[in-house]
Amino acid sequence: MGTSNPPRGHPGPGEAGESTAPHAGSTAVVGLQWGDEGKGKVIDLIAGGFDAVVRFNGGANAGHSVVVNGRRHALHLLPSAVHHPRVKGVIANGVVVDPAVLLEEIDGLAALGVPRPNLALSDRAHVVLPYHKEEDALRETVAAAADAENDRSIGTTRRGIGPAYSDKALRSTAVRVGDLLKPAALREKIERACAIKNPQFQAMSERAQSFDPALLSTRYLEFGERLRPYITDTFQLLRAMLDDGRHLLFEGANATLLDVDHGTFPYVTASNCTSLGIPAGTGVPGRLIASVVGVMKAYCTRVGAGPFPTEQNNAVGERIRKRGNEYGTTTGRPRRCGWLDLVALRYAVRLNDLDSIALMLLDVLSGFDEIKICTAYRVSGARIERFLPDADSLTLVEPIYETLPGWSEDISGARALDDLPSAARRYVQFVEEHAGAPVRIVSVGPDREQTIAPARGAAAHPIHAA
Ligand code: IMP
Repeated sequence: MGTSNPPRGHPGPGEAGESTAPHAGSTAVVGLQWGDEGKGKVIDLIAGGFDAVVRFNGGANAGHSVVVNGRRHALHLLPSAVHHPRVKGVIANGVVVDPAVLLEEIDGLAALGVPRPNLALSDRAHVVLPYHKEEDALRETVAAAADAENDRSIGTTRRGIGPAYSDKALRSTAVRVGDLLKPAALREKIERACAIKNPQFQAMSERAQSFDPALLSTRYLEFGERLRPYITDTFQLLRAMLDDGRHLLFEGANATLLDVDHGTFPYVTASNCTSLGIPAGTGVPGRLIASVVGVMKAYCTRVGAGPFPTEQNNAVGERIRKRGNEYGTTTGRPRRCGWLDLVALRYAVRLNDLDSIALMLLDVLSGFDEIKICTAYRVSGARIERFLPDADSLTLVEPIYETLPGWSEDISGARALDDLPSAARRYVQFVEEHAGAPVRIVSVGPDREQTIAPARGAAAHPIHAA
């Protein structure tokens, strides 16, 4: 991303909901691995210094929970900070929106005492319809059954993400949020989509659902009416905010290694999840993003299929899963767990042009005698340090590990780097030295207080020097 004004730098942790603090312009927060890195906590920590939190990719496949009035609430589509009245939540054009899920989340917030979220929804975002979810499930079933020996299913969340983005690319069967306000146009589009999809689905499975365009049109027009107060041209809104000197926080959904272009294809999601997705997904040019914060776990996890060189399908992985409560927020599936992969991490740091790293879930590694970190791969006898973002190539690599000493202490009470045992400090430093970006936040537990971060003003320094 560009380096024009304002200067790069992480705003540092702030109280969500506090008045706008002076800081260094708009920032992006992206996941560096295969998702679920703890982006929600990082956004919650820093959102109070921003005027808007902007979703630019993905849909209801993402998941995070927020604590509102002391009660935890799961969100998939609403931007993380939307429950803070002063921070505007923006769902920009790059997102695929399931109106039923969005309205459920809005109603859920209302039940918690947030009557009408401060939300803007792009009229150019694409709509996920029930037939997209059916297609997602049918494709997965066909891919799995095609060759039982060699299951080719992706392990999607079945939220209709891929089929909705493919309709966007196909155009003639696509429905955009703005169409939900135009009865005749919506009806025509849904009729056309059903005319194509119903017979296709029947050909895939006799048990496939068939969709009635009249019923769907009526239901989605009702959704449109309920969403009308939020629907707008978010590109114009964001440009006006920037012209006004406001600061935007871009919230990446999913994560770098799931990026459709740069991830471990084909075991990826259908959108651009890196900072590279922001310009197309919002209309805000990259040079206006002053800082990119990458969020990583102290180890690796993955949900769904696909290569995972450092996976520990053994007691180590089991222990990480248990201690880290590694089960999917959206699907509840147990996550695959393994050691940290620095080859993949370096790739993600470069791809996102990162300014700083938030290292999450360090507390989960407490209690291991020793901890392994993958620093290179061996392929056909040769050592390589370059990441291979392609599933076939990646399945051939063998990780080369360095072994660091573990620590036995509970570190969840640490609030400064000096509170950590020396082995944990060494781990953070090792990551920082090999990743190619400074670590500025270390998380040692789920609560916002369980965070080690430099004070405002010290944010220009790597955490071990702060
Ligand atoms: P889809 O996005 O539902 O099409 O799923 C494609 C792949 O991305 C599957 O392996 C999912 O498990 C994975 N995936 C999608 N979103 C997330 C996420 O937010 N966290 C972790 N994995 C995800």
